[in-house]
Amino acid sequence: MPKKPIFLIFLGPPMSGKGTQAARLSRLLGIPQVSSGDLFRDNIKNQTSLGREAKAYMDRGDLVPDEITIGMVAERLSRPDCADGALLDGFPRTIPQAEELDRILEELGASLSGVLAVNVPEEVLVERASGRRICPVCGRTYHLTFNPPEQGSICDVDGGELYQRDDDLPETVRQRLAVYQEQTSPLVSFYRDRGLLREINGDQPIDDVAKDISGVVMSL
Ligand code: AP5
Ligand code: MG
Repeated sequence: MPKKPIFLIFLGPPMSGKGTQAARLSRLLGIPQVSSGDLFRDNIKNQTSLGREAKAYMDRGDLVPDEITIGMVAERLSRPDCADGALLDGFPRTIPQAEELDRILEELGASLSGVLAVNVPEEVLVERASGRRICPVCGRTYHLTFNPPEQGSICDVDGGELYQRDDDLPETVRQRLAVYQEQTSPLVSFYRDRGLLREINGDQPIDDVAKDISGVVMSL
């Protein structure tokens, strides 16, 4: 019998560690990490019209409108490398996006396996933002204190000069946190009511969060 594809959502506020954990689980399970934020940043880097449209919203810390976001993610999930599933990092972020995701998966003959809600207190999130650094070459995420590169400010994997994301400025981070509370946090009860939510304590060392996530995923 063919294996059922695994589609998991990483749900959590900015800086909760969604990207860090999704990348690790992707290597473990051999299924791709699909990050809506990374897809937007790729479009901005490649100067596409979608990227130009998204940039203004992202720079303000606001959500990109659903009609732009949903089409972009649907196209990504339809690619052959998602045949065995995908780890959705940062999508859905609104109730309409969640409803559309059900339809997208249904069209692919799949369904949602579970939703990992990564919980971290707000004061810890703000502290994480100032130290985050990203590799421009491979996209790997570091933290100057909690997950530092081996040497100075260059990537361990490819030597890329690490940079700070434009939207990690303190006032933009505050806006992203407010937007999460208002528009994304209703998804917690949306998925809890459907029996899909699994709560993860994201306020622990990265390896310990990863262990908890593996345990939950193996039990699904
Ligand atoms: P996106 O790129 O998704 O940003 P976000 O949700 O704000 O989340 P982050 O990427 O900031 O944090 P993360 O949870 O991935 O944490 P990370 O692992 O990096 O979205 C950016 C923008 O794009 C949005 O504002 C919006 O405009 C737009 N967008 C994206 N998706 C959209 C959608 N669906 N609809 C509409 N618009 C959308 O970790 C953070 C830092 O902490 C790192 O430095 C890391 O090293 C460190 N760290 C991680 N785990 C730990 C730990 N356990 N202990 C200590 N440090 C840790
Ligand atoms: Mg991220």
